[in-house]
Amino acid sequence: MKISTVILAAGYGTRMKSKLPKQLHRVAGRTLVEWSVEIANQVSSELPTAVVGHGKEDVKRVLTDRVQYAVQEEQLGTGHAVQQAESLLRGQVDAIIVIYGDMPLLRGETLRGLADLFIQEQATGNLALAMLTVVRDDPQGFGRILRDTDGKISAIVEEAACTAEQLKIRELNPGIYCFDANWLWDNLSSIPLSAKGEYYLTDMVEIAVAQGKRIASTFADIEEVDGINTRIHLAHAEQIMRRRILNRLMLSGVTIVDPDSTYIDDTVSIGQDTRIMPATILEGCTEIGRDCVIGPTSHIIDSQIGDHCSVSQSVVEYASMAEHCDIGPFSHLRKGAILDAGVHLGNFGEVKNSYLGPGTKMGHFSYLGDSHIEGNVNIGAGTITCNFDGENKHKTHIGANSFIGSDTMLVAPISVGKGARTGAGSIVTKDVGDGELVYGVPAKAAAQ
Ligand code: UD1
Ligand code: CA
Repeated sequence: MKISTVILAAGYGTRMKSKLPKQLHRVAGRTLVEWSVEIANQVSSELPTAVVGHGKEDVKRVLTDRVQYAVQEEQLGTGHAVQQAESLLRGQVDAIIVIYGDMPLLRGETLRGLADLFIQEQATGNLALAMLTVVRDDPQGFGRILRDTDGKISAIVEEAACTAEQLKIRELNPGIYCFDANWLWDNLSSIPLSAKGEYYLTDMVEIAVAQGKRIASTFADIEEVDGINTRIHLAHAEQIMRRRILNRLMLSGVTIVDPDSTYIDDTVSIGQDTRIMPATILEGCTEIGRDCVIGPTSHIIDSQIGDHCSVSQSVVEYASMAEHCDIGPFSHLRKGAILDAGVHLGNFGEVKNSYLGPGTKMGHFSYLGDSHIEGNVNIGAGTITCNFDGENKHKTHIGANSFIGSDTMLVAPISVGKGARTGAGSIVTKDVGDGELVYGVPAKAAAQ
């Protein structure tokens, strides 16, 4: 059976009190609407359809071609929103799953269960839809599920339209459905206009019942379907999602010493037997190898870290470290820092847009920018590449096995040869040849 998913994401989310459309707020490394795409892809290989409206250009910029788009110019309700996808999907698939762009905690397996229920129940014929329901003591904010004396679902009543009796109902509508596609497209236009001037998708239930069609339902966990409406919900979802990610990593062989102070995006990968120490944040498309020690108090963004590395109380952003590197405490790898195998960076090392060859060591408070440093170079304490002349950035090159004395200023553009040495406190303004020793201010070659 071919199933396609429609993601409703045209609403603005006024209660977020934000310039940003609600579906572009983030939870554990993905925007809310990207989570919906992720969930949709777990249930079907068909390209999901996103119904967009408010902030549609922003949403498109984020989702690009990961979905196809239906535009809902005016937000006339969830029924009207689904209708916008009809021209893209009619005749294309057998069933349509509807989810929202603000329910990141919904699990793929829950949606898979709904699809399986639909497939199973459809075999007996006359099925219009399968849906999830939830039971919660505090029903506020949800449509209420009405059942007839046989226990069959007969209607969904929106909270605003509930009688005092109906308001007490604890079985609620999360708003996740799997519809028979032909039946959906044939009947969407029968939804009456509500008192609020909207077309409610929930009315499809009464339409089905009036036609004598069957509705299947299964219970879901409230945690998964509690949609995000405010930033309080956002923080709550972050907390739950974070714990799920940490549990997945721990079960795959990663040690997380203190889950309460560890923040890892879903998009991060970590190898076996790596230990994540407290107060560590790992973000974006960061990849960390096996047998590393990361943290304490480290922040890594969009970076690659090889096996057997250690990162202590340091910040690593858009950078990479090959195997057996160690940095920190208090190091900063910035954009384009590439550390080859076995590089050591001690306290207060900063590296930007530079390559450090295998075995190069930079123990104490130094800055390397726009540099190419070959292997086994010793960068003495306080060395600085003076890469910026006030207008332009210039490059520094240091050959293998060189020894850069403490407090050397390398005024770029500059090249230091292989096996060269600079004296402590030198200001090097001219290129240094292979094996040469220079010292002084400005640095001059030592008499041979
Ligand atoms: C909806 C359900 C309600 C359910 C609740 C669960 C209807 C009529 N009601 O109510 O029974 O308990 O969800 O959270 O369906 N959207 C559009 N276009 C629109 C309107 C909404 O794309 O014109 C999108 C929103 O961006 C959002 C989703 O649909 O992602 C749900 O809309 P929302 O207004 O939050 O519905 P509720 O009033 O919460
Ligand atoms: Ca809602």
